[in-house]
Amino acid sequence: MNEVFISPKKKGKIAVFISGRGSNFMAIHDAVAAGKINAEIALVFSNKKNAPGLEIAGQRELNTFNLKPKDFSSNEEYDQVLVDEIKKRNIDLICLAGYMKILTPGFCEAFKYKILNIHPALLPSFPGLHVQQKAIDWGVRFSGATVHFVTADVDMGPIVLQAVVPVLQDDTDETLSDRILKEEHKIYPEAVRLYFEGRLEVRGRRVFIR
Ligand code: GAR
Repeated sequence: MNEVFISPKKKGKIAVFISGRGSNFMAIHDAVAAGKINAEIALVFSNKKNAPGLEIAGQRELNTFNLKPKDFSSNEEYDQVLVDEIKKRNIDLICLAGYMKILTPGFCEAFKYKILNIHPALLPSFPGLHVQQKAIDWGVRFSGATVHFVTADVDMGPIVLQAVVPVLQDDTDETLSDRILKEEHKIYPEAVRLYFEGRLEVRGRRVFIR
């Protein structure tokens, strides 16, 4: 019998993890600010002190926080400190939004069904990095974006939402990435909205929208 998880119906506290420009973080924050998501962004965290998205979070008067990997002796130690910081803040959901540091199994286990990620391809095709160029090089006709729960198996957790975009003959990494990103900005806030409406039910690998 598969384990069943149902997302909580509550006003949630979100931590967004970023490493770069943070456009998905902004899409989620815009939806929160517009009252479309029953949650607040309690923290924007980065492994990169100079991530542009972190500066934007500061301008938006959100709590920001960063930890430099080089100040820690291992990824396990880094993630354990991060687990403690997140627990201290009573975070309900962590949204990875271009967070480019792989989470340790210990971190994933500490927040089971409490971590979402956005990936710029139709998983399980093209996990990993540089996936828009990989989709072009493979010759697929369609690619897209995937929001999924995070497990220790990188990019392989249960899929919440996907959006499909065509791959055009003359696409470059940039044009395809732009087309996918527009869809990311729609499906990520939507997935978070469903989460705090108590509407995501995970049964094994499958996520049902109640
Ligand atoms: C997005 O395209 C996201 O899907 C991707 O990084 C970009 C971050 O952009 N994430 C991954 O590739 C995760 N493996 P953003 O900082 O503007 O949200």
